[in-house]
Amino acid sequence: MHKTIKDITQMKRKEKITVLTGYDSTMVTLCEQVDIILVGDSAGMVMLGYENTSSVTMEDMIRFTTAAKNARKNSLIVSDLPINSYKNEKDAVTNSLRLMEAGADAIKLEGGREIADIIKSITESKIPVMGHLGLLPQTAEKYTVQGKTKENAIQLIEDAKIITESGVFSIVLEMVSSQVAKIITEKISVPTIGIGSGKNCDGQVLVVHDMLGLFEKIKPKFAKRYLSLSEEIRNAVKSYVEEVKNEKFPAIENEFQMDEDEYNKLRKEIV
Ligand code: KIV
Repeated sequence: MHKTIKDITQMKRKEKITVLTGYDSTMVTLCEQVDIILVGDSAGMVMLGYENTSSVTMEDMIRFTTAAKNARKNSLIVSDLPINSYKNEKDAVTNSLRLMEAGADAIKLEGGREIADIIKSITESKIPVMGHLGLLPQTAEKYTVQGKTKENAIQLIEDAKIITESGVFSIVLEMVSSQVAKIITEKISVPTIGIGSGKNCDGQVLVVHDMLGLFEKIKPKFAKRYLSLSEEIRNAVKSYVEEVKNEKFPAIENEFQMDEDEYNKLRKEIV
């Protein structure tokens, strides 16, 4: 049985919640130790080669969610509603349902008080919602740290309270100053999941391609690299190319052989 929303909310103040993004079955199979697989719209950048997340469509997110669902055994699956898919309450509910039908256990969307009613309409349709505050990649013009001034901090803290009242079961805090992330985490009843927001959040999320050292275009300082997979892949491809060119691959152990007698009969017939 996979993790449930209740399992996640009960972890607040008891055990840190681990989240990684996942958009394809192979990676989700490998990452299933985490509590939550986030089918993030960062897929647009790391899987589809877009400059940012603003070109991601519902069809993209449905396809990635299906792939994650096909592999998942243990983790909860949360899928991002892409930009423009939750402009009003009707679209938000319809598109959330489409992600749930594709295999999501919950959806995530970006914003504070300005989308409180939209969040409410989704949660009232019995679809669990994860919020996302701080840096909002779908609309941000620049990637800057949030919660650095008193005014901005108060706004973020109030937003967190407002969307909690709208029914979110947890909130991603992206690039929020550590002090403000700590205050929000202490003040709200649902778990906070930090990315670039310090150690005091209830959980942490990273884009799996960053954490494995696979994505080279952007290297944010908060995205700790646990591996240098891109280097390993390039070395493997170099060896493969060399071995094929030099006829070292395939070797005898990689071949399939015809039975000797059959081969001799064939040779006689075709000579
Ligand atoms: O799309 C995504 O991967 C995200 C994480 C960065 C939280 O929203």
